[in-house]
Amino acid sequence: MNEQQRKEMSQIRQEKPADVKSDKDNLERIKQKTSEDFMKYFETTYQPPSLRKAQRRRKEDVKIHYDFNISEEMAGVGEGRKYMIRTYGCQMNEHDTEVMAGIFEEMGYESTNDTKEADIILLNTCAIRENAENKVFGEIGHLKPLKLENPDLIIGVCGCMSQEESVVNRILKKHPFIDLIFGTHNIHRLPQLVKEAMYGKEMVVDVWSKEGDIIENLPRARKGKIKGWVNIMYGCDKFCTYCIVPYTRGKERSRLPEDIIQEVRHLAAQGYKEVTLLGQNVNAYGKDLDMGYGLGDLMDELRAIDIPRIRFTTSHPRDFDDRLIEVLAKGGNMLDHIHLPVQSGNSDILKIMGRKYNREQYMTLVHKIREAMPEATLTTDIIVGFPNETDEQFEDTLSLVEEVGFEAAYTFIYSPREGTPAARMSDNVSMEVKKERLQRLNKIVNQQAADSMKKYEGEVVEVLVEGESKKNKEVLSGYTKRNKLVNFRGPRSSIGQLVKIKITEAKTWSLNGEMVEETIEVK
Ligand code: SAH
Ligand code: SF4
Ligand code: F3S
Repeated sequence: MNEQQRKEMSQIRQEKPADVKSDKDNLERIKQKTSEDFMKYFETTYQPPSLRKAQRRRKEDVKIHYDFNISEEMAGVGEGRKYMIRTYGCQMNEHDTEVMAGIFEEMGYESTNDTKEADIILLNTCAIRENAENKVFGEIGHLKPLKLENPDLIIGVCGCMSQEESVVNRILKKHPFIDLIFGTHNIHRLPQLVKEAMYGKEMVVDVWSKEGDIIENLPRARKGKIKGWVNIMYGCDKFCTYCIVPYTRGKERSRLPEDIIQEVRHLAAQGYKEVTLLGQNVNAYGKDLDMGYGLGDLMDELRAIDIPRIRFTTSHPRDFDDRLIEVLAKGGNMLDHIHLPVQSGNSDILKIMGRKYNREQYMTLVHKIREAMPEATLTTDIIVGFPNETDEQFEDTLSLVEEVGFEAAYTFIYSPREGTPAARMSDNVSMEVKKERLQRLNKIVNQQAADSMKKYEGEVVEVLVEGESKKNKEVLSGYTKRNKLVNFRGPRSSIGQLVKIKITEAKTWSLNGEMVEETIEVK
């Protein structure tokens, strides 16, 4: 850590969060106001969702509810109407969209992709980097003329951006035509919120800083019948210093093992071939349940379910334990592809990022995984240009990428997020240097990806066929166990099946191949 980084981190640690009143009470009061005095009220008394308050959360009981239902009054409200949800961000958001779609469909709404046809449009937003937010604000601007044409159209903003006070304030001030803002903890209130937006005159704002309970029996309109997502936990308690997620998604709350197992069994019975367990930090699964039961134990139980593939995302290296490695090494429907975000290869930067492991500890974990699963594919996430990152510190990231031999990586330029500790650090690295570092890193990552693909030429792999390739309708595509995209020509009847493909040509990010006879043994 250089001198400047050390000084700034100690200043950040000394600051104490301010006390904030219950913003839910405030929001209740706002809703009772008329539009005329709304802005005045907002400027004087309104307390927006508080990032600081989120960080002060204590261990409170999380209740699990099994009694979600849609009131009679709202049950048929969508008949003859259409909904559209535009989704940004990670799989967590994609899956939340499936839940909201399920709720809309239970209310009688039909889905549409055409903004002109829609009676309600939701933007399910992502706050992870500034450019993610800019995209959404751009889209909000595009939707304005639709609202002017059709005043009955309801436009809502939900997802992670809604959990940020600055975003809610900006929408209130600059985009008053938005009808509805709600956050990530109260999706189950969608019918009620739609009702308020339909019959009320003011913007409906329902955002909770305090994370909600776990609602078990929400409907889901899943996108596809082959691969399904299953939440195993919500929230994140890691508070990496650059990251907004612990604020937007609340504290870690694990679902009960039996509820997860039942959902996976149900998907298997419906013919799904692959399940991805979702959480921001799945390796912390079960800690809050205090049952001495973790992700390894859960995976061991899921192994017995008759479903060909079970994945999980995202892993945090700190909590990745031996029990999980032992279970993954048993093979079967446990896959040997592990996405293990490292963020940086330099121990000082990792320390300021608050990742709670250093380079050596990460490498020890990699070696353990490799020993137990010699064929395992490792992929990662990396941030370049963290405040004051030196050239040497960046070089450590390059050398770690080579040492581990990642076969793919999501690489990002650091983006300051308001309210996070890192955003208060000054930064002496210019954007030009950051961009240059990203390019250097990507060059190595691309080369390693291409090399890893080359090894498959001439091999036979098992592919879960998902459908037509995005680029060419004549060609089918799917993924191998190790998450390599394969394109091949074959009968449409193979969609949804596991088939054997002989690889004929390797590209950087995909493989081309031909279907082979059933009898050939899969590697
Ligand atoms: N829970 C996951 C990551 C979720 S966010 C984990 O801890 O691995 C996905 C990725 O976005 C992160 O791994 C990180 O590489 C990147 N990211 C998060 N915050 C960022 C920021 N402020 N600027 C740039 N990239 C960021
Ligand atoms: Fe963000 Fe860190 Fe939590 Fe991942 S583990 S979501 S990077 S705070
Ligand atoms: Fe974005 Fe929220 Fe996911 S910030 S990455 S949508 S958890």
